[in-house]
Amino acid sequence: MLKTGKGAEAPPFLVMDVISAANARAAARPPGARPVIRMEVGQPATGAPAGAVQRAMAALEARDPLGYTEALGLPSLRARIARHYKEHYGLELDPRRVAVTVGASGAFPLAFLAAFDPGDRVAMASPFYPPYANILTALGMQPVLLECGPQTRFQPSLSMLEALDPPPDGLLVASPCNPAGTMLAPEELRAIARWCEARGVRLISDEIYHGLTWGTVPESTAAAFSEHAVVINSFSKYWSMTGWRVGWMVLPEALIRPVECLAQNLFISPPHLAQLVAEAAMDCREEAEANKARYAESRAALLAGLPEAGFDRIAAADGAFYLWCDVSALTEDSQDFAARMLEGADIAATPGVDFDRRRGHRFLRFSYCGPIEEMRAAPARLKAWLGR
Ligand SMILES: Cc1ncc(COP(=O)(O)O)c(C=O)c1O
Repeated sequence: MLKTGKGAEAPPFLVMDVISAANARAAARPPGARPVIRMEVGQPATGAPAGAVQRAMAALEARDPLGYTEALGLPSLRARIARHYKEHYGLELDPRRVAVTVGASGAFPLAFLAAFDPGDRVAMASPFYPPYANILTALGMQPVLLECGPQTRFQPSLSMLEALDPPPDGLLVASPCNPAGTMLAPEELRAIARWCEARGVRLISDEIYHGLTWGTVPESTAAAFSEHAVVINSFSKYWSMTGWRVGWMVLPEALIRPVECLAQNLFISPPHLAQLVAEAAMDCREEAEANKARYAESRAALLAGLPEAGFDRIAAADGAFYLWCDVSALTEDSQDFAARMLEGADIAATPGVDFDRRRGHRFLRFSYCGPIEEMRAAPARLKAWLGR
């Protein structure tokens, strides 16, 4: 038999299976039947801002040759992202430290390969965004899972880190995080960044849901607390541009050239057209803020309605567009529960097993970035389905 590599053992991202089941159910609906409410997908229903799309059309109409760009991205986009740090966080940032990537997803292998060696241990909270651990494992690195609960807002605490002996080689944090939607307070992130610096632990901070926070915890960037932290962000969520595949990193000085060399070899460059669109999107705040206002309304409707329907143990909904519900009062098997909910209530949500291997059978993730009327209708449907 021919050999397959370790990378071939990467587990599936189960939410994709839930999406397929919801697609099949939606396609089989008879005319006039109530629609399937899609609360499993973590992508905005809206597209890129109109001004950004116009930028794409102008480039195509002008027959812009759209070649490779520099591996770290268009200089104008890197400068625009650096300006964003000044405007949004009050942080002076040298544009040389910005690397444009193929979504946040494209940033992970670059960051991991530049910062770690095979065998290195990288800690992260559990529940977590599954590709973190799957990519690390595919690269021969070891995820170290820190079981977190509502006491620490599903985020790692200093005492959890101090209990790691020996300290890990890296720490991956996400604030707001997926699936819990919870955040680290600025003082917590600062303390974690300091701890990492003192122990020689490389901090990687996934800040993809910045911009989508609901005022319970202030937003802060790890770049403000440590020059050695790698910050990862993306145009997919706040700017509603999942399909354009553009993200970025803020890199420590020592990793700029290594990431550039890796990016040249792995990707050559992020897509040129998408980079033009991303740069234009950064000036389309009004549209992005209007999307955000809709998520805020959906969030409020769900936080008001879900407890009455029986979903009353919800993680602090600080940011992103997810509600992480402890459904152990309703089921011991969230995968089966989600399948029955799709059949009985025509509502798709993601079972927690993807995000937390040990405790996920007790959790369900609802995403609320879908159409607002559907988010408003969801609690009543769930209530009726559960006979409450
Ligand atoms: C926490 C987190 N990080 C990264 C990503 C990847 O985003 P993208 O590659 O679209 O930028 C996602 C997507 O859902 C996410 O939830």
